[in-house]
Amino acid sequence: MTALLELENVDVRYGGVHAVQGLSLTVARGETVVLIGANGAGKSSVLHTVIGTVRAASGAVIYRGRDITRSSTNHRACNGIRLSPEGRRVFASLSVEDNVFSGCYGTSRATRRATLDWLFDTFPLLRERRHQAAGTLSGGQQQIVALARALAAAPDLLLLDEPFLGLSPIAIRDTSAAIRDVQRRGTAILLSEQMARPALALADRGYVLRTGSLRRSGPVAEIRGLALAEDYL
Ligand SMILES: Nc1ncnc2c1ncn2[C@@H]1O[C@H](COP(=O)(O)OP(=O)(O)O)[C@@H](O)[C@H]1O
Ligand SMILES: [Mg+2]
Repeated sequence: MTALLELENVDVRYGGVHAVQGLSLTVARGETVVLIGANGAGKSSVLHTVIGTVRAASGAVIYRGRDITRSSTNHRACNGIRLSPEGRRVFASLSVEDNVFSGCYGTSRATRRATLDWLFDTFPLLRERRHQAAGTLSGGQQQIVALARALAAAPDLLLLDEPFLGLSPIAIRDTSAAIRDVQRRGTAILLSEQMARPALALADRGYVLRTGSLRRSGPVAEIRGLALAEDYL
């Protein structure tokens, strides 16, 4: 079976900085894959080459068997790829509900309604706070809003950039539960994290990056030791 996503020998460069060096990676349908690495390891660069906001200097990005290396971000989003960016950027002055739909254009009223009902049932916080300005929520609550925004388009491949960054242990637990709900829907997830422990608990397989290069990849059990060590760098 072909993978949902394949990176083949991807390089990312910013001027003289070689941020990602010859990375190959796969995500199967319905699978959760974690990218572990310290600050500057290249995690965000990898996720941005998948959504298309950063162009690979060389190598290929293959999605559903098609080469999308040169496709626009819009084209990728319309084909089911969504990114919840680092720092869970929410629109502080917009309501929770408006945040959730800020990335969801062109859908019918009925689809919107059905999506909102599903999100409200899955994340009761959203219903309770739907009219509240997102900027007044706690960090953990904002992470749920950012996640819901990425999910509003019902993606097939969800990219999560450091969803646990700066969260309290309780918020990490709630965010993990939310991600598990997404997994149960069969959505494939590529998740980046410095915090190896909660990320490994969610993943099937992982890749450990250091300064742009792959150190190790494999099932969670095989990379756990190295991933936890990387956490303390
Ligand atoms: N827009 C940019 N311009 C120049 N250098 C960048 C840019 N974005 C990232 N970098 C550099 O690329 C490397 C990888 O960064 P990044 O992908 O953000 O890593 P991570 O997400 O793992 O912290 C770092 O050395 C970072 O400083
Ligand atoms: Mg990053």
